[in-house]
Amino acid sequence: MENKEKNKREEYVIKIGPLLKAVVDEQRRMIKEATYNICKSSDAILFGAIGDPKYDNDPSAKIRPEQGLLKLRKELGLFANIRPVKAYETLLSKSPLKRKIIEGTDIIIYRELTGGIYFGKKKLSDDGNTASDLCEYSRYEIERITHLAFKAAQSRQHKVTLVDKANVLESSRLWRKVVAEIAAQYSDVELNFLFVDNAAMQLILNPKQFDVILTENMFGDIISDEASVIGGSIGLLASASIGDKYAMFEPIHGSYSQAKGKGIANPIASILSAAMLLDHFKLNDEAELIRDAVEKSLKLHVTTPDLNTKYDNISTSKVGDFIEDVINNPNDSNLNFTNIHLGQSTII
Ligand code: IPM
Ligand code: MG
Repeated sequence: MENKEKNKREEYVIKIGPLLKAVVDEQRRMIKEATYNICKSSDAILFGAIGDPKYDNDPSAKIRPEQGLLKLRKELGLFANIRPVKAYETLLSKSPLKRKIIEGTDIIIYRELTGGIYFGKKKLSDDGNTASDLCEYSRYEIERITHLAFKAAQSRQHKVTLVDKANVLESSRLWRKVVAEIAAQYSDVELNFLFVDNAAMQLILNPKQFDVILTENMFGDIISDEASVIGGSIGLLASASIGDKYAMFEPIHGSYSQAKGKGIANPIASILSAAMLLDHFKLNDEAELIRDAVEKSLKLHVTTPDLNTKYDNISTSKVGDFIEDVINNPNDSNLNFTNIHLGQSTII
């Protein structure tokens, strides 16, 4: 790409979560054409979060904020959603799970994102009493994410676990067949199969057995929320949604609108999503700076109330300011702790 064109495109790395919600409210539309166009002319998208209890509690709502996100994922072809789950040393006591169970856990979930029951044909009978959602997968949809999962395993612990429900679902049986065929091309990677109900149990009984978890759309949605318990808070889990052409980075949590104006929403998942964005552009040192700053915030209890049992006055923006300070001054050991907890600048 020409440098000039590249610079132009770099201006368009954007955050669109709040915009999507506003669009639904004001115009009864899921997402503006203009928003798509900006996304399509971007090298990457940093997505906020989406959802609103107003729609969650109204089953008859015809338009929901989530549709905007799903449409965006589908139209941008973001077929692989990658969700790392890690037990942070400093947060081991925050998880409701025992330290000895979660210590050392390092999993990466490869969730298929543009197929399955989320996108299959939906039907509601005329009398409104019967409904169905079709779960459909093609070989091609399974193959492309499977290759990504196996490649990831090659640079990790060389282990892929396919999570499915092949004892019941035809679509899961196709997953098993296709994934087993592809596994033959990766002789250095071990493949295991696990039914999703068992996987849900194993994840909290013995999470260390997992390296790469590969799964379809809805199972991935469910088990990744479950897996967030290992890290101590769902507010920590970042994700990358990758396609052939576009890439979007989003926290796995919803919008948490109950926290509006209270300064209690954990910003770390969004911040770590930005680190994944930098990794995507091979800016690994820069991404590492962000991750180190996040670890420091966790270690020093500069965290929002979902994780903080020590201080009760650390708000979302204080956490953000602290992380920003550490990124700008990574080697500064003179952090002023009094100021941190008063929420003032941390660098002296
Ligand atoms: C997620 C979310 C979304 C999903 C919602 C907001 C549509 O739960 O990214 O995990 O179900 O994919
Ligand atoms: Mg989810």
